[in-house]
Amino acid sequence: MSLLELKEITKRFGAISALQGVNLAIEAGEAVGLMGDNGAGKSTLMKIIAGNFPPTSGDIRIDGNLVSFNKPLDARNSGIEIVYQDLALCDNLTASANVFLGRELKKKIGPFSMLDYRGMNERAGELFTELKSETRPRDLVKQMSGGQRQAVAIARTRLSDPKLVLMDEPTAAISVRQVAEVLSLIKRLKDTGHAVVLVSHRMPDVFEVCDRVAVLRRGIKVADKSIDQTSTEEVTGLITGAVEAA
Ligand SMILES: Nc1ncnc2c1ncn2[C@@H]1O[C@H](COP(=O)(O)OP(=O)(O)OP(=O)(O)O)[C@@H](O)[C@H]1O
Ligand SMILES: [Mg+2]
Repeated sequence: MSLLELKEITKRFGAISALQGVNLAIEAGEAVGLMGDNGAGKSTLMKIIAGNFPPTSGDIRIDGNLVSFNKPLDARNSGIEIVYQDLALCDNLTASANVFLGRELKKKIGPFSMLDYRGMNERAGELFTELKSETRPRDLVKQMSGGQRQAVAIARTRLSDPKLVLMDEPTAAISVRQVAEVLSLIKRLKDTGHAVVLVSHRMPDVFEVCDRVAVLRRGIKVADKSIDQTSTEEVTGLITGAVEAA
């Protein structure tokens, strides 16, 4: 039984058909690359899995059970975390505050309930260490590099020990050295038993960390192959349409 199974997922935005009849299964602990041109429907699919909006039609199953997510919290409660394309971090807060945003730790002092900053900084520090990131919990996000921001967004997904982490273009806007760091973060997630869906335009990233690649073209899944049974040439052809399907 698959960890996540999507059946015949369709999504319309008014006249736009963003996804048409998409089937996709994710097994526990595997990393799947989701590729496709701009507007192919990748982020829309991620947002449906993460509970941002429901599909127009189609079924979502987790561990074989039919689910319907009305809000992101529903997906989170089912073990799914997402790192959005725009990261959705608060620039004016510290790394630690971002990791705990909406899930702040509190402590009781007499009758008062207060934010447990020390506890949050300690736990965030542990998460960064686990991810082998040098990000410091007390640093402000607005002073961070793209790679460090990614580390903060990824650390945030680890608070709940999810089964599946969705990452929407985590290496799109960062330097070469930081790309290597983010890829090693993704490998760490995999090594610790998490399934990952990596949305990316970067062929080398997908071929380095993913077990499988699925390609969307204009809302339709045109390929779903094991990485060792395809090539960058074939995937490029599938994305552009030079190769019809595989
Ligand atoms: N909230 C929305 N309202 C209306 N149309 C939308 C909405 N979100 C996405 N779309 C449309 O759905 C289609 C798929 O968009 P989506 O963002 O999923 O593409 P993508 O594959 O993530 O592209 P990119 O690589 O540029 O991030 C596009 O035509 C887009 O304009
Ligand atoms: Mg997108």
